[in-house]
Amino acid sequence: MKNILVTGGAGFIGSHVVRRLVRQYPQYQIINLDALTYAGNLENLSDIQDATNYTFVKGNICDASHLDEIFSQYQIDAVVHLAAESHVDRSITDPLAFVQTNVIGTASLLNAAKKYWNGNYTDKRFYHVSTDEVYGSLGETGFFYENTAYDPRSPYSASKAGSDHLVRAFYHTYKMPVVISNCSNNYGPNHFPEKLIPLSINNILQKKPLPVYGKGENVRDWLYVLDHAHAIDVILHKGVTGETYNIGGHNEWKNIDLIRLLCKLMDEKLGQAPGTSEQLITFVTDRAGHDLRYAIDASKLKDELGWLPSVTFEQGLSQTIDWFLENKEWLDHVTSGDYQAYYEKQYANNH
Ligand code: NAD
Ligand code: DAU
Repeated sequence: MKNILVTGGAGFIGSHVVRRLVRQYPQYQIINLDALTYAGNLENLSDIQDATNYTFVKGNICDASHLDEIFSQYQIDAVVHLAAESHVDRSITDPLAFVQTNVIGTASLLNAAKKYWNGNYTDKRFYHVSTDEVYGSLGETGFFYENTAYDPRSPYSASKAGSDHLVRAFYHTYKMPVVISNCSNNYGPNHFPEKLIPLSINNILQKKPLPVYGKGENVRDWLYVLDHAHAIDVILHKGVTGETYNIGGHNEWKNIDLIRLLCKLMDEKLGQAPGTSEQLITFVTDRAGHDLRYAIDASKLKDELGWLPSVTFEQGLSQTIDWFLENKEWLDHVTSGDYQAYYEKQYANNH
């Protein structure tokens, strides 16, 4: 593989994937295709923007003719597809945007790859990055396995499930060499502050309420984003064509316990009296259709490809907070403008 098209590389996870590939593989050309929606930010990649093996292309994965140009101009050998609308709450207010990008966009990208490769699949790969949310919601016990039946319950997860099905359809119908991974909740540097952890860090800094949906009893399995980028690298290179790999941290937290831990760490780092940040916790109206629990069994990835997470949650969370404290300018930039309007609307009835 020489020329790798990464989609959504200016987003949270995509930027860590792009940086890893650019640095680890100087012999590859990394082409980052991103529409720069509200979630895309080239500041995430300022440290590698001048690398000789990196090219940024602004464009939309739904734009078929632009995709054709990109595949031929850069002679694409492999695709790592991360571009998506990714926030569940936004999918509840605007489901069609999710169908457009996640379903139509993925179909367009598959179709462009099919046309360009034209049945010659030697050393080619289409890697689709997906989510554990396609498996639905667990009760208090059990795990998601690669063969767990799909049961998506939000417009976001339904659109991601649709994209996964399309990828598998191209494998079965056209023999396209695909690989899919389904990962649990990521956290870390560059995380957009609409999601629970960065939103809470930002609100503690602003001394604003910390909105906890419902009773805070919902459980998520958290993985440090650099560990996800490492897993993607491993699967891109060693994953078996046609296979699916679950990626997770074996690190389940109830939202309320996670927020309390975050508050404790923030108080320590900000030199505040213990309990200062916890006073900001505010229970608010629950998310519609809120999935109770996600938990990934990642033993296939460990046993077959040797991947394991490298940091504990306490280490990862501490490094994440340090990054946000050292990058207040980044936070200022992404929380101005559109973000303010989104925030007022999303939390309007609660405070
Ligand atoms: P993000 O919202 O931070 O970034 C998405 C990126 O895609 C942005 O840079 C955006 O500009 C770009 N984009 C959106 N629509 C586009 C379009 N039509 N054409 C081109 N680019 C477009 O998302 P993220 O959290 O980094 O997630 C990346 C991928 O990983 C997504 O596919 C998501 O479903 C999946 N995933 C995310 C998580 C998580 O916890 N964040 C966990 C598992 C899987
Ligand atoms: O599981 C993987 C998924 O994780 C990814 O596919 C998604 O792209 C990603 O956004 C994430 O989805 P979640 O809905 O789990 O993440 P979010 O950070 O939005 O919410 C985490 C939990 O916190 C969830 O139970 C809802 C809750 N929550 C969230 C927000 C934004 C709150 O209690 N208050 C909030 O203000």
